[in-house]
Amino acid sequence: MAILKIARMGHPVLLQTAAPVADPTAPEIRKLVADMFETLDDIQGAGLAAPQVHVPLRLFIFRVRAERSGGDKDDRPIGNTVVINPVLSFLGEERQIGWEGCLSIPGLRAAVPRAWRIRYEGVDTEGKPVVGEATGAHAAIVQHEYDHLDGILYPMRMVGKDFVNFGFTEDLAKAGVPEFRRAAPL
Ligand code: NI
Repeated sequence: MAILKIARMGHPVLLQTAAPVADPTAPEIRKLVADMFETLDDIQGAGLAAPQVHVPLRLFIFRVRAERSGGDKDDRPIGNTVVINPVLSFLGEERQIGWEGCLSIPGLRAAVPRAWRIRYEGVDTEGKPVVGEATGAHAAIVQHEYDHLDGILYPMRMVGKDFVNFGFTEDLAKAGVPEFRRAAPL
């Protein structure tokens, strides 16, 4: 196991479209995923996509901690989850604005618009299906990580007035920005 170096915004690996994983059960993929979990634990993050550790492949890991979960039946805490070759679909038109950070954009946070409800499917490192419906924070985390596979960083999802809610984590906290953690449905 190893703690991996995380690419920061400005590195081209974060802007490319990642390639499908040919064999999700391959030993090198298992090792990559194990190292990504170790890296996520080390940095105390919510999610990490392979391009963020300089591997342009379509897989990400995530978890939803109790304090992030909104309590909705599809937004409950969820343990370490890997999704390889994910397919994402939006369910319905409802949107949310939730505070996001990114390990590739350290020290900053922004309120980012996302779909409220999604469905995702993929496989794990044993080739078994991983399928989920998600709302709220769970849905936002999955959309954020999925975006990394298409070279999209969260500031690219922000529009117009959303930039009012973009700043350094430390200063936003000091300013007492309302609903700093929780996603608020629009
Ligand atoms: Ni990110």
